[in-house]
Amino acid sequence: MADPRHFLQLKDFSRDEIEHLFARTRWIKERFKRYERYWPLADRTLVMIFEKASTRTRLSFEAGMQQLGGFAIYFNTRDSQLGRGEPVEDAAQVISRMCDVVMIRTFEQDIIERFARHSRVPVINGLTNEYHPCQILADIYTYIEQRGSIRGKTVAWIGDSNNVCSTWLQAAEIFDFTVHVSTPPKYEVEPDRAGLYSTDHYEQFPDPMEAARGADLVTTDVWTSMGFEAENEARRRAFQDWQVDAEMMGMAKPDALFMHCLPAHRGEEVAAEVIDGEQSVVWEEAENRMHTQKALLEYVVLGRVTG
Ligand code: CP
Ligand code: NVA
Repeated sequence: MADPRHFLQLKDFSRDEIEHLFARTRWIKERFKRYERYWPLADRTLVMIFEKASTRTRLSFEAGMQQLGGFAIYFNTRDSQLGRGEPVEDAAQVISRMCDVVMIRTFEQDIIERFARHSRVPVINGLTNEYHPCQILADIYTYIEQRGSIRGKTVAWIGDSNNVCSTWLQAAEIFDFTVHVSTPPKYEVEPDRAGLYSTDHYEQFPDPMEAARGADLVTTDVWTSMGFEAENEARRRAFQDWQVDAEMMGMAKPDALFMHCLPAHRGEEVAAEVIDGEQSVVWEEAENRMHTQKALLEYVVLGRVTG
């Protein structure tokens, strides 16, 4: 049996592979919009394991798998033996004998890596404390769809250097663009934790307005990610000046886009006038989670499909 092709962080895939996924996304999305049936994963099963809450990730994988002709099983660790201490290695052995692909949303990256090492089938990261690769597949695809190539462009990341930020930084290395990151002091990017090869594709700015200057895309995320709720109050104080508002968008290029992985907190990391404004593409971004993940499911289960 060939080794399964896992997608545990964005850099697990080469630029060529991600470009293949984007070509397939375009094709799959067009067919879907024309109501044309495409069932390459008929009789295949996806198991989705969630240790944290989700709306978009669960729905986009579940709907996407059904649209590809397959089945999706939702699994919450709270009501499974995983939540009662069954070793992740044992769970991986068992679960991966009963399905064709697994998606996991969990806490530490180490958990998904251990699962993948013992899995007979491909494992997809649906968000860990460290990374959110499926999100950035959709984000880059959305940028390309709206504006063309992202190569050489500037992305401003305003706020927490969290899982989504780290994945943007990996994307910058893969696609050769620059990220201007602005975080409050003590929340700066740690290149090792972000899984970066170098510091060449990003620059840190103490002032978020300066990070936004001249950007082609401005993006942000919640101040407190899932699993870090105990830090909520301290973060609310530290991040006060890191809200993307109209004045900050005004520092970016006039045709700059605004993205947010969602869920958003209006009045915290983003002003309503921005997320609900004309430069915002957050709904397209959310929809593209499904289309890009359908291409991803096709690729990890069937390999390179052309058609
Ligand atoms: N962006 C994202 O992953 O959303 P959910 O937490 O709703 O899945
Ligand atoms: N950074 C956020 C993303 C949610 C989709 C979190 O991890 O909670």
